[in-house]
Amino acid sequence: PPDQHWLFGSFLPVRNDLLNFYTRMFRELGDIIRFRGLPGLYWHLVLHPAYVEHVLLRNQQNYRKGKVFDGPIGLITGNGLLTSDGDFWRRQRKLMQPSFHRQALTGFVTTMAAETETLFARWDAHAHRGEPFDVAQEMAALTLGIAGLTLFSTPVGESADAFGQNLRTAFDFVGFKMRPTLPVPLWVPTPSNLRFKAARRRLDAVVYQIIERRRKTLNPPPDLLTMLMAARDEDTGEAMSDLQLRDEVITLLLAGHETTAITLTWAFYVLTQEPVVAERLYEEVRSVLRGAEATVEDLRRLPYTRMVIEETMRLYPPAWGLPREAINEDEIGGYYIPGRTLVALNQFLTHRHPDFWEDPERFDPERFSPERAVGRPMFAYFPFGGGQRVCIGSQFALMEATLVLAMLTQRYRFKLVPGHPIEFDTLFTLRPKHGVRVICERRAGE
Ligand code: HEM
Repeated sequence: PPDQHWLFGSFLPVRNDLLNFYTRMFRELGDIIRFRGLPGLYWHLVLHPAYVEHVLLRNQQNYRKGKVFDGPIGLITGNGLLTSDGDFWRRQRKLMQPSFHRQALTGFVTTMAAETETLFARWDAHAHRGEPFDVAQEMAALTLGIAGLTLFSTPVGESADAFGQNLRTAFDFVGFKMRPTLPVPLWVPTPSNLRFKAARRRLDAVVYQIIERRRKTLNPPPDLLTMLMAARDEDTGEAMSDLQLRDEVITLLLAGHETTAITLTWAFYVLTQEPVVAERLYEEVRSVLRGAEATVEDLRRLPYTRMVIEETMRLYPPAWGLPREAINEDEIGGYYIPGRTLVALNQFLTHRHPDFWEDPERFDPERFSPERAVGRPMFAYFPFGGGQRVCIGSQFALMEATLVLAMLTQRYRFKLVPGHPIEFDTLFTLRPKHGVRVICERRAGE
């Protein structure tokens, strides 16, 4: 195995810019790297697709999400699907899985399309005045609106300022806590702890109110909450408690809306940089979409649009790294992995691995065409994770991202505001640090 990297003294660069640090290490040391910190503290960065497959699939029973993941995120999602483990997680996953099958989701396409249409008036006005705006903010509000409607038929968009703000405050706090900082317990009244707890209290109040009202409704709407409330445990026949429903609703809001918003934001950024891709995308969309709205059938006829989304998630994976904890000792790529140590996977780097991606920095959607995908290892690309903990919402996300990108491309052409800086913010997900400010133009005849 290549040399170990002694991390002692590298604490500051790591703390401030983990992704940059990992990128440098990958270039120097390759497919698997052991980091050593204080005595007894070390972890492995695992980048080769075969090793990723080992951790996520082949030997997945030896890897759990562990404290790095559960602790901070669990502060807000409680015992939701993303953070729970063992038998409890298995029971919940079984209860929830049917609600996320492609077939169950088709009813949501109309909602997604209608929400996207609500952007038209505002974007038309921006286009008319040549006014720049931040696509990141627009996409965050849109996907939150879609999440609210599909999850519990509530237009959180209307109160999106307060609701979205609380969600973001809570989310940022969790991201901050995921970094190696001094462990200040939540009961210590620091300003950030107090802010987080207040945001969490307000979110809970809204969610519990929605659940309580729903319990009294005779004709519940066909949304995810209704499906989750109707789900029964196969063995015990039990339904979820209010507390469990709260945890799952908050989990789905968090896991679902921000990641999809980021994917779309990066896709629009790419379109400003890649005129050939943008025009090809438009040609496909205009030949398929009739009128302003898109339908489920349309989605099947938009392969290039879908490939643009997939390629966007290759270069800009919203979940850019996955931490795991080895339960027992193991061996990966010639390295001895002791039990209870951290194994870090990193989509950002594996997705740009030069041995598996030709000209990896180039944006080339057709890499995802069936012909060109032949022979590529399964875990050279894993924006949704893999194995039993694979993203439950991947179909939902792909549907939503493809639809929104198609509808907005059909109507507008985009330019990045000259000089607008593009940098990564890796606090938690892979966001563009300064947003993506664009000027859009209505397409003639659309
Ligand atoms: C899990 C990514 C959209 C709900 C995951 C994981 C990844 C991921 C990488 C695995 C985490 C791990 O193994 O540690 C993404 C990306 C999305 C997206 C990139 C959008 C582009 C969604 C949506 C929903 C959702 C729309 C819900 C509506 C979940 C849940 C889990 C999960 C509940 C935990 C599943 C489990 O452990 O059983 N997601 N996700 N995600 N995602 Fe997503």
